[in-house]
Amino acid sequence: TGLITLDPGFVNTGACRSDITYIDGDAGILRYRGYPIEELAKNSTFVETSYLLMYGELPNQQQLATFTDQIQRHTMLHEDLKKFFDGFPKDAHPMPVLSSAVSALSTFYQSALDPFDEPNVDLSSVRLLAKVPTIAAYAYKNSIGQPFLYPDNNLGLVENFLRLTFGLPAENYEIDPDVAKALDMLLILHADHEQNCSTSTVRMVGSAQANLFASISAGINALFGPLHGGANAAVLTMLEGIRDNEGNADEFVKKVKNKEPGVRLMGFGHRVYKNYDPRAAIVRDTARGIIEKLGGGDEMLDIAMKLEEYALHDDYFVERKLYPNVDFYTGLIYQAMGFPTEMFTVLFAIGRLPGWIAHWREMIDDPDTRIGRPRQVYTGPTERSYVSMDQR
Ligand code: CMC
Repeated sequence: TGLITLDPGFVNTGACRSDITYIDGDAGILRYRGYPIEELAKNSTFVETSYLLMYGELPNQQQLATFTDQIQRHTMLHEDLKKFFDGFPKDAHPMPVLSSAVSALSTFYQSALDPFDEPNVDLSSVRLLAKVPTIAAYAYKNSIGQPFLYPDNNLGLVENFLRLTFGLPAENYEIDPDVAKALDMLLILHADHEQNCSTSTVRMVGSAQANLFASISAGINALFGPLHGGANAAVLTMLEGIRDNEGNADEFVKKVKNKEPGVRLMGFGHRVYKNYDPRAAIVRDTARGIIEKLGGGDEMLDIAMKLEEYALHDDYFVERKLYPNVDFYTGLIYQAMGFPTEMFTVLFAIGRLPGWIAHWREMIDDPDTRIGRPRQVYTGPTERSYVSMDQR
């Protein structure tokens, strides 16, 4: 064990080569396949960006049309999978419901699970991109006791998801194009982030040659953690706490600085970005517009901005290079769109899905891939003899 380097949290350990996403944490740069996140957020769509991440190039018109069509055709869930939702408690959090349903997909498509069969991997990828939004919407519908709607295959991915989430069978749900566009853009911002915790999980599980559904299900569970995807919901809970305390952020920040167990300024800090998170800059610029359009939420936005301003000038945060991350403002936008807090991390999962798929595929195709198997530095007792019960 003398040769083993201890690196908790893999801060300095590269586990793979990757062509997908480039991050320069000091310069605040994020690029998917070489394209700056700012340009993709402005000009691309989530479906197009998913194609880019998975296949390495922006699709031409024909490729995009085929990809879009395939996704639209696979949005429905098997009727038996829909029964699955009845088995969960009504107040079940939608994240474990989502991961369970995604795991169950490998029971519905057993003949298409070979990780080395490329056409089947293509099909599984499309099935995931198409069905995860449907599963997510059904998890929500189930939690509020409303009936499931069938997907409308004339609608785009985001529009379909909005209708499945907020529509009712007897009503004609009107999609607000500004909301659809803003949500699409937020999904692009979340689509990949190289070797983050959930993506590393997907790669690790996949390195054992577990199938794509099983690997993605594991990634969803990793994302559920409050330090990762759960942060967007935690930010809102934090802001609500401050609002209910007469908008007094000082007391909260004091607790953060005193490092009270479990108290952090949620939505702040990042393992890689030590200057600013370029995704946060984009979200910050768009937050006010969409929140004002949808009405409400201004008070919370003001608290968030005050908190940000404060932290950016406070020694504790400056010394540790803690800046707002992508999740600092997204929750406020999701809330203004009408999503309950429990759905925030689900939205992150829908967004991160193409990144997980792209990494899993890259990992499977890479001849250098070996099963993920970190070592350890053993710190337990040296050899000792078994002690019989009457001697303990
Ligand atoms: N509030 C207060 N102190 C913090 C925070 C925070 N949000 N983040 C880090 N610190 C402190 C930490 O206590 C430590 O201080 P010290 O050196 O005195 O012990 C120092 O900063 C370094 O922190 P760390 O925990 O070693 O950093 P990390 O790279 O292991 O963790 C992080 C990164 C994102 C988990 C962490 O910054 C954090 O918990 N942030 C809040 C949760 C959050 O917003 N997560 C979303 C991340 S972005 C979306 C995603 O990828 O999921």
